[in-house]
Amino acid sequence: MHIGPFALPNRVFAAPMAGVTDRPFRQLCRRLGAGYAVSEMVTSRKDLWASLKTSRRANHDGEAAPIAVQIAGTDAREMAEAAAYNIERGAQIIDINMGCPAKKVCSKWAGSALMQDEPLALAIVEAVIAACLPHGVPVTLKMRTGWRADRRNAVALARAAESAGIAMVTVHGRTREQGYKGRAEYDTIAEVKSRLRVPVVANGDIDSPRKAAEVLARTGADAIMIGRAAQGRPWIFGDIAHYLATGEERPQPEVGEVRRWMIEHLHDHYGLYGEAAGVRSARKHIGWAVRVLPGGEELRTRVNGIDDAKQQLRAVDDWFGSLAELHGRLPALLHPNDETFLEAA
Ligand SMILES: Cc1cc2nc3c(=O)[nH]c(=O)nc-3n(C[C@H](O)[C@H](O)[C@H](O)COP(=O)(O)O)c2cc1C
Repeated sequence: MHIGPFALPNRVFAAPMAGVTDRPFRQLCRRLGAGYAVSEMVTSRKDLWASLKTSRRANHDGEAAPIAVQIAGTDAREMAEAAAYNIERGAQIIDINMGCPAKKVCSKWAGSALMQDEPLALAIVEAVIAACLPHGVPVTLKMRTGWRADRRNAVALARAAESAGIAMVTVHGRTREQGYKGRAEYDTIAEVKSRLRVPVVANGDIDSPRKAAEVLARTGADAIMIGRAAQGRPWIFGDIAHYLATGEERPQPEVGEVRRWMIEHLHDHYGLYGEAAGVRSARKHIGWAVRVLPGGEELRTRVNGIDDAKQQLRAVDDWFGSLAELHGRLPALLHPNDETFLEAA
């Protein structure tokens, strides 16, 4: 699997998730088996580039190649400038966001709302490609199946983007109108795949190795992308890559391994955000990891009241230490990635 000149180790990708797939989490996902990971979206609005949030998102210290940055915006010229800005800061692949249904993005006519205005969407694609071409940086596109059920225009938009020079297309199997409701459908993704020559990535509701294999078979996609099911369980990428390579499911990870990954992740997190902000933003990662484990809800509540990094580390380390005394491997999840879990994420 290649994106432009970059050969990827496998076809199991981490989805961009604002507020989740920051550099520490991307690095963790890749260490645990993701073949590729895309950054949280970076706004094309120049007035926000100096903000702490955007400058953290444009920080790629120590990140392995290829560094992929997603940009979001509504104006072709601004998007081209955003691409150039991120390339200067280390981006080696630029991904255009036409997949995110968040109101903050859509009220400004960005994200998946762009799918409703094909000429504007295409103007953005062309302008970003023109800005990236001189640097040899491939441009990819992430979209939904369409605007709403009777406006599934992913095939038309993907074909136009391919003619403009896009290097890869990812499709989340829901319309913009659906948000995260209902189930992802894969027929539109299969159609996009059958009509394109560039790699197509299937996304939506993939939460196990078997589901990953089913979606690959059903769509013929070149790769799959996983978002919510990786929250709290970043080893899912390695589990899926192993299953696709061998046809065998791996056992749950050892509790000791999960404890080590969690502690390393917390340290990386404090490194990027500083301790005060890091403690707060790490709470969600701790919550996702433990709430589906026996006794985890109690730890999640306790951690939400801790403001000090050392205390947070100690609480997590002690909790996993006690779990390790009872279980060698991670015990069965109380409510594994079911609909409630996916919708609540
Ligand atoms: C918290 C959260 C943040 C997201 N942020 C982005 C984003 O910044 N850009 C984007 O293209 N998609 C974003 N998405 C959508 C995901 O990339 C993905 O397409 C979607 O969650 C479906 O995949 P899944 O079922 O594996 O989660 C976000 C999703 C979630 C849950």
